[in-house]
Amino acid sequence: MKDVVVGVDGSPASLAAVVWATDDAVRSGASLRVVFVLNRDPYQITRFDPGLGDQLARGAERVLEEAERAARARDRDVAVTTRVLEGRPSEVLRSQAAEAAELVVGTRGMGGFARLVVGSVSMHVAGHAPGPVVVVPQTAFAPKGEVVAGVDDTPECLPALAYAFEQAARRGATLRALHAWEPPVYPFAPDIAYDAEQTRTDRQTAVAGLLAKGRAEYPGVRVIEDVRRGHPVEALAAASERADLLVIGSHGRGALTAAVLGSVSRGVLHHAKCPVAVVRPRD
Ligand SMILES: Nc1ncnc2c1ncn2[C@@H]1O[C@H](COP(=O)(O)OP(=O)(O)OP(=O)(O)O)[C@@H](O)[C@H]1O
Ligand SMILES: [Mg+2]
Repeated sequence: MKDVVVGVDGSPASLAAVVWATDDAVRSGASLRVVFVLNRDPYQITRFDPGLGDQLARGAERVLEEAERAARARDRDVAVTTRVLEGRPSEVLRSQAAEAAELVVGTRGMGGFARLVVGSVSMHVAGHAPGPVVVVPQTAFAPKGEVVAGVDDTPECLPALAYAFEQAARRGATLRALHAWEPPVYPFAPDIAYDAEQTRTDRQTAVAGLLAKGRAEYPGVRVIEDVRRGHPVEALAAASERADLLVIGSHGRGALTAAVLGSVSRGVLHHAKCPVAVVRPRD
């Protein structure tokens, strides 16, 4: 079984990520691997002061010890290993994700500016790492019994749906499959005909089709098919207030090959009130 990997950098948000990752590792019977990526690049000063190199390594060890303590405090039976890896955090974490059951990070880290919502490392791995990347905010998570999955009406969201079913089953939670749609906006063309009822029915059929596989695989998971009018980011952010986890794909219908994350995924990362899993297909 693959490890649950969590990235830590000594920040409070990364400790929240450790707590989330511990819970999920224990729930799934996986081991927890805590990783600190030591980036020596910004400290070229070590060329002049070799002692600083050791100091950075000691700092890394302390961050890992603190994280391991937090994991054991959360669950004393968790199987946990720690590791210092050298390189650029976003790249090293991305390659860790390839071998992991999932990669867990905090929304923010030690750097950045005060009002930044999602840090660059989290944003990078959410946009590039294969498989599920869970971005955890620094808030308490009392279980609410619901996993929300954002459903596009394209097969791009199938890996996200598979992960959402797995998570709902593991937690004994309800799965809310949420699809929000909006009529197109054409300026100065008020009389362009389009049938709202037909659109709704079409969307409902598409969503039901995408859920069929998961329903067959996880007959014990209660599913709510929630198809509604509205902006997807707004609808998903609102649903996140009552959710334990919000699961989305990395791209949908509007996929621009140049954009690493679709606009809905990016919007959700900025506005969600609960941990968000961005699921990118493997390979
Ligand atoms: N060096 C690192 N090693 C391991 N994980 C890291 C490292 N840096 C960041 N992370 C992970 O990424 C999360 C978000 O940190 P990130 O660096 O993206 O935000 P930030 O420090 O607030 O802003 P900035 O983009 O300026 O660095 C952290 O909570 C942690 O889980
Ligand atoms: Mg940082």
